[in-house]
Order: sequence, then structure tokens, then C-alpha cells
Amino acid sequence: MLANVIHSQLELHKEFGGVVPELAARDHLERLPHLLDLALDGARVQPADIGRIAVTRGPGLAGCLLVGVGVAEGLGAAWSRPVTGVNHLWGHIYAALLTRPELEPPLLGLVVSGAHSDLVRMPAHGRFEVIGRTRDDAAGEAFDKAARMLGLGYPGGPALDRLARSGDASRQPLPRPSLPGLEYSFSGLKTALLYRLRDMADRAGQQERADLAAAFEASVVESLLEKLAAALEKQPCPEVVVCGGVAANTLLRRRAREVVAGRARLTMPPLELCTDNAAMIAAASHFNPALAPTTVEPSLGWD
Ligand code: KG4
Ligand code: ZN
Repeated sequence: MLANVIHSQLELHKEFGGVVPELAARDHLERLPHLLDLALDGARVQPADIGRIAVTRGPGLAGCLLVGVGVAEGLGAAWSRPVTGVNHLWGHIYAALLTRPELEPPLLGLVVSGAHSDLVRMPAHGRFEVIGRTRDDAAGEAFDKAARMLGLGYPGGPALDRLARSGDASRQPLPRPSLPGLEYSFSGLKTALLYRLRDMADRAGQQERADLAAAFEASVVESLLEKLAAALEKQPCPEVVVCGGVAANTLLRRRAREVVAGRARLTMPPLELCTDNAAMIAAASHFNPALAPTTVEPSLGWD
């Protein structure tokens, strides 16, 4: 990895309490040329050194994807290089291969982001079989909504993670989602938190909110790992990857190590490769050189 330049839009969206798609797309357009210069400078490469351009084709916000693909195609035309479209979710898995270059499929992946909580088997490069998913909210979405209920600003996941550190989950127990098989569900847990806060009204001080954050976090994390362990039990696999933005969570990282220990080797990308980044998209393209030219597909699954 020669360079991995990230521009965070947190400041832009903060006052709205969440991502505003139109602002996000326009900001992509304004920032991308400069980010590209930074990446080329940081990597100390010239356009002539570049073999291929990889860009996210989906799933994601349509406007942002369009800007990315438009810029990639412009570069491809200017530099006479092929442009390939990469699946965003594949990128999260390939962040683990950037982390441990000797890592190879077959592997079992838990991909947890703002929009996905997927258990996938990856038998070979470029092949993914979804064996578990969420019925309602994704884990990241659940963290973001819980954080808002607890009066934490946007972005919620990291703020809830910090607040939970000073809490004690056993003082405010919340239900643990339990669906049969490998399915997740976080909406009931979210409602339980809502009702608890409503019942407590103004008795929910700083310590109570920290306890609730810890309890919410523990329920989500244990549910995620319970199904990961069940998948591993059903069909053992030597390599496990836990990735996506939520894999930056402190408790998830600690508990994943404990749960996977002795059953498989675990790879979790460092924090800056867990949350969305361009290096993981380049890595997915690197290991799958035959990917087709790109079209924008906002609601693409794993295909
Ligand atoms: O993969 P990602 O960067 O973007 C998507 O593809 O969605 O994931 C973003 C999600 C957000 O919901 C964010 O709140 C969550 O990851 N997240 C966290 C933490 N850091 C980011 N959730 C819990 N604890 C964290 N430390
Ligand atoms: Zn993502």
C-alpha cells in the first residue's frame, strides 16, 4: 500500500445528524481531484506507473458512486488505462488481505458496516456466498440510531463506543437478539432502548447513559459473534475475517479475538482500513484482475 488518502465528510454532515446524499455527492466532486494529487504525491508515482484504475460501483449512494465512476472514467480516458468496477463489500473483505498479505481464501467473513451485517463464505478470490444477513437494521445503523437516542451526535458508532467504555452493561441489561439460524435482527433491541429511556425520563444521567451504551453495545456484539461462532461450528474454516466500519468497535475487536481463538485464525484490518477507504477497493481489483468495466449499481448485493 503506497498511499491511502481519506477525506472525512463528518464536519459537513454533522449539523444534519446524518449523511445528506446531495451534499455528499457534491463534496466528492469538489474533493476528488485534490485527493488524487495527494495520493499520487504520497505514493511517489506518475500516471505512467499506473496499470489500472479501480472504482467502487456499489452498493452505496447513487450520487457519490456516479461522481467516482465519472472521475475514474475521465482518468482512464486521459491516461489510456482500463477502468474496473469493484463491489464495495468485496473491498471490505480485501482490506484484510492488505492487512495480512499471506491470507488466502477459503475464509469466513463477518462484514459489518452502516448498511450491512453479512456472514459470507469466500471459497476463492472473487467468489462470495452470503450465509447470514440482517432482517432489519444493519449493526452500524443500529449503533448510529442508539447513539442518537442517547443524545450523542453524529457519527454515532464511535461516540457510543467511547461512552460505553465508562459504562457497566450489567446495570442496565437489554435483550439479546436471538433469531434461529444465521439471521440477525437489531430492531427489537433498538425499541427496548427507546422504551427504557422513555421510562427513565430525566433519571437517565451520564452514568445511566453510559451503562445503557455498554449494554446496547454488548447485545449487538454478542449477537454478531454468536452467529459467527455458529457458522464456524457448522462448517469449519481456517481463516476468519471481521471487517467493515463496525469492526473498528473496541468491544467487538476484543471479543472477536476471544471467540475465534482456538477455532481459526482471525484477521481484523486496522481501524483506518475498517471504515470506508480507497485502498481496499484497489486491493479487490488487484486480486481480481478480470473485473469488467464499470457501471453504477447503487443497491448491488455481493454480485
Ligand atoms: O463501512 P463503513 O465505513 O461505511 C459503510 O459502508 O456503511 O461503516 C460505517 C459504520 C457507521 O454506522 C459507523 O457508526 C460504524 O460503522 N462505526 C462504528 C465504529 N466506528 C464506525 N460502530 C461502532 N463502534 C465504532 N468504533
Ligand atoms: Zn463500507
